[in-house]
Amino acid sequence: MCGIVGYMGNREAYPILVKGLHRLEYRGYDSAGVALVNSNGDLSIYKTKGRVSDLEEFCQSKDTTGMIGIAHTRWATHGEPNNVNAHPHYSESENLALIHNGIIENYAVLKARLMQNGYHFKSNTDTEALIQLIEYIKKQNKVDLCTAVQLALGQVVGAYAIAVMEKGQPDLLIAARKSSPLVLGIGDDEFFIASDASPIIEYTNKVIYLEDEEIVIVKRNLQPKIVTIGNVEKTREIIELEISLNELEKGGYDHFMLKEIFEQPRTLRDCMRGRIDVSCSQVVLSGIIDHKERFRNVKRIIILACGTSWHAGLIGEYLFEEFCRIPVEVEYSSEFRYRNPVINPDDIVIAISQSGETADTLAAIEQARQAGAFVYGICNVVGSSIARNTHSGSYTHVGPEIGVASTKAFTAQLLVLAMMALSVAHEKNTLTEERYLRLLNELNVIPDKIEWILNTTNDSINNLSKIFTYAHNFIYLGRGYNYPVALEGALKLKEISYIHAEGYPAAEMKHGPIALIDSEMPIVIIATDNGMYEKVISNIQEIKARNGRVIAVVSEHDTVVKAIADYVIEVPATEDCFDPLLTTIPLQLLSYHIAVNKKRDVDMPRNLAKSVTVE
Ligand code: G6P
Repeated sequence: MCGIVGYMGNREAYPILVKGLHRLEYRGYDSAGVALVNSNGDLSIYKTKGRVSDLEEFCQSKDTTGMIGIAHTRWATHGEPNNVNAHPHYSESENLALIHNGIIENYAVLKARLMQNGYHFKSNTDTEALIQLIEYIKKQNKVDLCTAVQLALGQVVGAYAIAVMEKGQPDLLIAARKSSPLVLGIGDDEFFIASDASPIIEYTNKVIYLEDEEIVIVKRNLQPKIVTIGNVEKTREIIELEISLNELEKGGYDHFMLKEIFEQPRTLRDCMRGRIDVSCSQVVLSGIIDHKERFRNVKRIIILACGTSWHAGLIGEYLFEEFCRIPVEVEYSSEFRYRNPVINPDDIVIAISQSGETADTLAAIEQARQAGAFVYGICNVVGSSIARNTHSGSYTHVGPEIGVASTKAFTAQLLVLAMMALSVAHEKNTLTEERYLRLLNELNVIPDKIEWILNTTNDSINNLSKIFTYAHNFIYLGRGYNYPVALEGALKLKEISYIHAEGYPAAEMKHGPIALIDSEMPIVIIATDNGMYEKVISNIQEIKARNGRVIAVVSEHDTVVKAIADYVIEVPATEDCFDPLLTTIPLQLLSYHIAVNKKRDVDMPRNLAKSVTVE
């Protein structure tokens, strides 16, 4: 959470920083700020509650000159979103400015100590304690800024990606990280730092990903120097990124979320490319091939994830158990890491994360690694922390997902899990050749079927959404493979429309949620013609007997559900196990249109962040 960006070069920093903040706004957007050092060495900070656009307005009358600067877009942890708690923060003398993403866990102790030494605090943030500490150490020990940062970070418990500047130093920018991401961009005589590569890519594709406890010292006209907190010099490989600017823009759609929903046929084709051979007779996933013995002999798989990725994990459980007959447990990373779990050295842990930066998932896989388990990552962001901290893995390859509510990353996670399960099943001989080939062929046509759904249902779902825009509650039901889809459908609606929604396995309805059903209650039920069809029809009857309003996702040409449901949305038929790849699409569209009708900020819903780098 929180986006940080910094620039030093031969151009004016402010426009580059503000553009960078817009690209990082998905990480947090409750306040924003910028610090600049001009050519006279004056250090100024401008910050305000609200969006990056509010900052731009605020800065209109200000002197924003300077060829070095740092900027921040905040997702509040300590202290409410207001002008004072916004970053950057000054030190006591106002000679230093700092931006921070992460949490300084021992800030209260540090703050108390600094206050005893005459330091005054303006904000309620943990961050202010760090910049005050840096200044205190700098003065006490009479050291330069870099040494002061090193010594201060040595006293910090917690997670951080920071950038610091000093008054009178228009040629010096210092940044550091631990557990929060930080990328250094290297241009021609100009340097960038950012939480991810999106603010950098417009200027250079050459980047270095800093490792934990590393500090980068950027000096004008010199090569950046990387040292650890303990002052060991490091050499890091320069990576050439392949993201295009186009991928970061809306491409004619009103929102990133809609663009990303509509991109899914292409993103799934990209995700499959080179992994399912042209004759559809083989899955080639190098992450599995390189470790096939381990997968062939594994006794248990543990899937770790949060949010939407956790829903993908639930579907992964069904896939691995059905195809490979391997027992699977799916855990919220945040629960797993704190409950003293039993982890065996011969377990395989699959960590699923779009961002590859989710703090709880990172910590949970570290625990699994310590216990000797083999960890496989399914990430979207190339070079992300989880991708780098796992033994093997597969990228989802869907390009940057900007909308805070995950859509295309989810379907690609499902696709990767399906390809993994098929590949392992083939190794283990747990599927007949005939079924294996049939499933592969079906996977191959899933993008076409999604295209069909998008083209034929978007308008009708838009109309349908108008009927339900003012509902206060929703229930989502599904069975078998479609139960996690119901959870995901409910989450999507909650996230972007702020309507309360619950997902349940359809059969569980009678153990509680049925009490909520009346003529006001919309119930979205996935009732495709699969192994659970008859049972789901009975559930619909139970709802109709209580006057509930049923919106059913059905298979194309269905007549039975159509006769009893209030509204139906058709999807093409597929194998039961791939149903989620199709049934999730109308639910994404439904939540999108309801949120638009309610005039919600679809891409940046309140209180949420795309990348949750705090626990
Ligand atoms: C946040 C996002 C969700 C996401 C979850 C897990 O809550 O808003 O969309 O599903 O984090 O993120 P990850 O990057 O690990 O998949």
